[in-house]
Amino acid sequence: IRMILIGPPGAGKGTQAPKIKEKFNCCHLATGDMLRSQVAKKTPLGREAKKIMDQGGLVSDDIVIGMIKEELNSNPECKGGFILDGFPRTVPQAEGLDSMLTERKQTLQHAIELKIDDALLVARITGRLVHPASGRSYHKLFNPPKKEMTDDVTGEPLVQRSDDNAEALKKRLSTYHAQTSPVVDYYRKNGIWQAVDASQKPGQVWSALLQIFDNDA
Ligand code: AP5
Ligand code: ZN
Repeated sequence: IRMILIGPPGAGKGTQAPKIKEKFNCCHLATGDMLRSQVAKKTPLGREAKKIMDQGGLVSDDIVIGMIKEELNSNPECKGGFILDGFPRTVPQAEGLDSMLTERKQTLQHAIELKIDDALLVARITGRLVHPASGRSYHKLFNPPKKEMTDDVTGEPLVQRSDDNAEALKKRLSTYHAQTSPVVDYYRKNGIWQAVDASQKPGQVWSALLQIFDNDA
């Protein structure tokens, strides 16, 4: 499969993407996770990105396009296709992706929007817990780990993201509406856009995604 997931912070991109990866045996590329790994390693890019991310802004198009290109070309899991989570987030990024795919003589099959009202996102974001190494996320109330503050798979500690506070969320949402909503229109025009109601329970969102994939067959 070759697809992208578009949606505001907390829509459930990082919750659904690993399930899609498992179903299709493809790679899951999340630019937010890639940037956070640079931040954790304190690379020059990571130091620069951290400031931008904590303020809810966007890292430059060239940098994230370069990261995706590099992964698509070198990550063996991407041979089975890809699901992009959090990319493209601007129209220039969408154009960058198109030219990458044209070079590879490939096309995108799905651009799925996880649609949800801003009002529902505060609780999701402020209750989120993440396992930094894998990017797995939990929720204090909606999806608690088996053992408090502990990753189910590795037993390692869970943390809160430094941009998961009400103030940074406000900025992330306004960035989303200003810069990423036009990406939805981009794929609407291109004919591969579909929307899923992301306010439902995670299992219901997954069923809606499965329905879309069933129609491919
Ligand atoms: P990124 O990491 O992509 O963050 P985001 O887009 O703000 O999205 P989130 O990860 O917050 O939400 P999600 O949809 O993955 O939600 P999740 O499934 O975890 O980007 C971070 C930053 O990096 C950006 O702000 C930017 O600065 C930079 N960046 C990244 N990509 C970039 C790009 N392409 N260009 C430029 N800059 C870039 O779910 C959230 C919570 O809700 C969890 O606790 C989960 O358990 C819970 N939950 C999920 N689904 C449900 C449900 N159905 N019902 C109830 N709870 C649910
Ligand atoms: Zn995410």
